[in-house]
Amino acid sequence: MEKFTNWRDKGTGIAPFVPTPPPLSQERGLTGALNNLKFVLKAICVLPLVLVALILPESISKNIWPTILKVLVNWSSQLTTQGVKKRDQRGELPTADSGIYLANCSSPFDAVALWFLAQGPVAFCVPLGNGKQSRIVQLGIWQFLQFALNNGQLRQDESHFQQIKTKSQLKGHVVYLFAEGTTSNGKSVLPFGLTQETWDEFLGQKSINTASSTSYSGDNNNRQVAADVKVHAILLKINSSLTTPLKLDKWKYLVRASAQGVSYKCRIIKSVGPELTKARAALVGGDKFRLVGKELNTESKRKFIKEFGSRRR
Ligand SMILES: *[C@@H]1O[C@H](CO)[C@@H](O)[C@H](O)[C@H]1NC(C)=O
Ligand SMILES: *[C@@H]1O[C@H](CO)[C@@H](O)[C@H](O)[C@H]1NC(C)=O
Ligand SMILES: *[C@@H]1O[C@H](CO)[C@@H](O)[C@H](O)[C@H]1NC(C)=O
Repeated sequence: MEKFTNWRDKGTGIAPFVPTPPPLSQERGLTGALNNLKFVLKAICVLPLVLVALILPESISKNIWPTILKVLVNWSSQLTTQGVKKRDQRGELPTADSGIYLANCSSPFDAVALWFLAQGPVAFCVPLGNGKQSRIVQLGIWQFLQFALNNGQLRQDESHFQQIKTKSQLKGHVVYLFAEGTTSNGKSVLPFGLTQETWDEFLGQKSINTASSTSYSGDNNNRQVAADVKVHAILLKINSSLTTPLKLDKWKYLVRASAQGVSYKCRIIKSVGPELTKARAALVGGDKFRLVGKELNTESKRKFIKEFGSRRR
């Protein structure tokens, strides 16, 4: 691993792209074979339910998937909202009108956990691009699963995805933005893959400054949006050997999840404000010193993927 010091943050000592392997015995020899077999048996048991869930509309199947995941990976998820009493937590679940949620991203299950929390249809967004230019695209839940198992990169050309310029395009949806633009191993929060400018435009702030812009209908409406929009942070935490900073085979991942069990901790921090630097600090619980440096961005990760791949061959 010494060769990967380029990708270790100098301040914190955190290497956010290096995968955390499960205990060695878990995927080898007899135990490995047994874990595969157990997973196959569980899968056969829930197959009918899966088929039903796939046919039904999302609003109904959403009540079935938790059971399926309970059987397959012993799914459990815990939500806390900062500053809200335990018994009032349910009232704090994300809705389409409650604002936009920034989340950190480290596993395909992230989207599932967030989908379960959302009261209504969801939209998952990721930023693409480098430090200077960025765009936001929308991913469906299946696309997100692929994204998260594929080094945190899109499998297809960008043109396959809908670009989202402002949040008003996602009206009626609970909007989640995975602002890092790729996956990490969950030890820190990566630099965000979008510029403040892109973000302001997304929030509808820009239309205030350039009120003469004709690309929106009704300036007054946009003012309203800008004033009302709330930005929240959701910290997601999953067992570290289930994070997928690098590419992983789907089957292998499911067997791993099934052998270990998936338990999520989600923490909502409300109203972090429209400033990205503040939002990013909120995603590590307010402790700025746990953030890795700006150089560990998506571009740097791309290089890491190459280097790591060539090392293992
Ligand atoms: C499932 O998870 C719960 C808590 O998350 C744990 O107590 C239980 O032992 C797990 N069950 C299995 C079969 O691993
Ligand atoms: C998200 O960030 C928090 C705070 O840094 C971290 O504890 C957690 O592991 C990250 N989430 C995941 C799923 O990696
Ligand atoms: C994560 O899973 C490994 C392997 O099952 C286990 O040893 C470890 O205690 C788990 N960690 C947490 C935080 O649940």
